[in-house]
Amino acid sequence: MDTQHTTQDFQHLKQGADDYIKRRNLRLLANHRKELRNYTRAEASAYLGIDAKTLDKYVAAADIDPRRHEDSQWSIDIAEMYRVRDLLPEALRKEPKFVRSDKQQAQVMVIQNQKGGVGKTVSAATIASGLATEFHQEYRIGLIDMDGQATLSMYYAPEAEQEGNLSVGDLMMRNFDLDEGETFEQVVSEAFLETTVPNLRILPAAQSDRAMEGWFHEHVFSHQLPSPYSLLSDIIDSVKHEFDIIIIDTPPSLGYATFNAYFAATSVVFPLSITENDIDATCSYFSYIPQVWALLENANHPGYDFMKILLTNHRDSSTTTELMNNLYDYFGPYLYSKEFKHSEAIRQASSLLSTVFDMSKSEYPKSKATFQSAQQNGYEVTSQILRDILNVWREQEQA
Ligand SMILES: Nc1ncnc2c1ncn2[C@@H]1O[C@H](COP(=O)(O)OP(=O)(O)OP(=O)(O)O)[C@@H](O)[C@H]1O
Ligand SMILES: [Mg+2]
Repeated sequence: MDTQHTTQDFQHLKQGADDYIKRRNLRLLANHRKELRNYTRAEASAYLGIDAKTLDKYVAAADIDPRRHEDSQWSIDIAEMYRVRDLLPEALRKEPKFVRSDKQQAQVMVIQNQKGGVGKTVSAATIASGLATEFHQEYRIGLIDMDGQATLSMYYAPEAEQEGNLSVGDLMMRNFDLDEGETFEQVVSEAFLETTVPNLRILPAAQSDRAMEGWFHEHVFSHQLPSPYSLLSDIIDSVKHEFDIIIIDTPPSLGYATFNAYFAATSVVFPLSITENDIDATCSYFSYIPQVWALLENANHPGYDFMKILLTNHRDSSTTTELMNNLYDYFGPYLYSKEFKHSEAIRQASSLLSTVFDMSKSEYPKSKATFQSAQQNGYEVTSQILRDILNVWREQEQA
């Protein structure tokens, strides 16, 4: 054995893995080209809360032909839906568009648990798309994928890497050159890509972002990075005025990526699935978390507006009820009362790189009833988070 052989072995593993992932992603994309969410006439009138005749009138006023599709069935997509909504007189619109005041800060929510597979990514995607689509205030939502696994990015920016878009890692590691006259703010703003939801943009991760931890270690070790936790926060600061709520998905680890996410955040949501194992792991994590906070506080984090535990992938049974009762004893005030329930529709949608808010019931290929209850549950989960955010904004407005 020698180091040369080992280097070669690792190179071969890397090559195999890169090729495998590239092929898998191409196949996924070829099978599931994601489109804008579509609404039937009944869905559209329910969504806007207006009767079908009024809907027809404003669809015509927006110069949309809802029967232009190949099958000539009535349908409009979500971008058209927003155009129609913009034309509605104030009295017909469910809620006026939200305009954040100068006192109200953009909310940055980190979704984190060191335990893997607890539903961080599915929660981040569902909450973000729920906040964007289900509330007629049209909050401007940003998603940031801090996980080099780039699962979240496959939902909303599947082609970003092939098309040479900058990833969050590129921005943090400064893997770009400014063109003449170009500012950092412009580069960051362009890196937040449009998605299939008009008021949702994503700053994607790339597979190459896995190099980030090594990069941090190198730069910290050589004293080139005096404040290694604030890089993401600087990035967010430069585009804060373009968003109302930013949600950060994190990897199942406590490296520099996660510390940067914690440091940039104004609130924390800990997803936790109710199994004995996940609860044990999360308790170990919470035992350690004051040490994480000590480092963040030392780096001048001002403290969080709120932190909550969101139960995910939740199945009702007597065992989970017993575990829940226990959790309420120990973490009561921190638990969100609505669990994110286990649902075949969530699982199915996530295998189509979608959430239950990226598609409508009519587009969902399997049981409509299952889909509808998953959407209903997603709406309740999202609403309780939004209430916390609205509270923060209310307090900031009054301060
Ligand atoms: N409510 C749900 N209903 C059904 N399946 C779910 C639900 N929530 C999560 N899952 C499934 O559980 C798996 C893990 O979820 P997810 O990828 O969101 O976890 P994670 O915490 O982001 O994982 P990692 O730590 O690897 O990043 C996924 O396959 C997802 O489809
Ligand atoms: Mg994940």
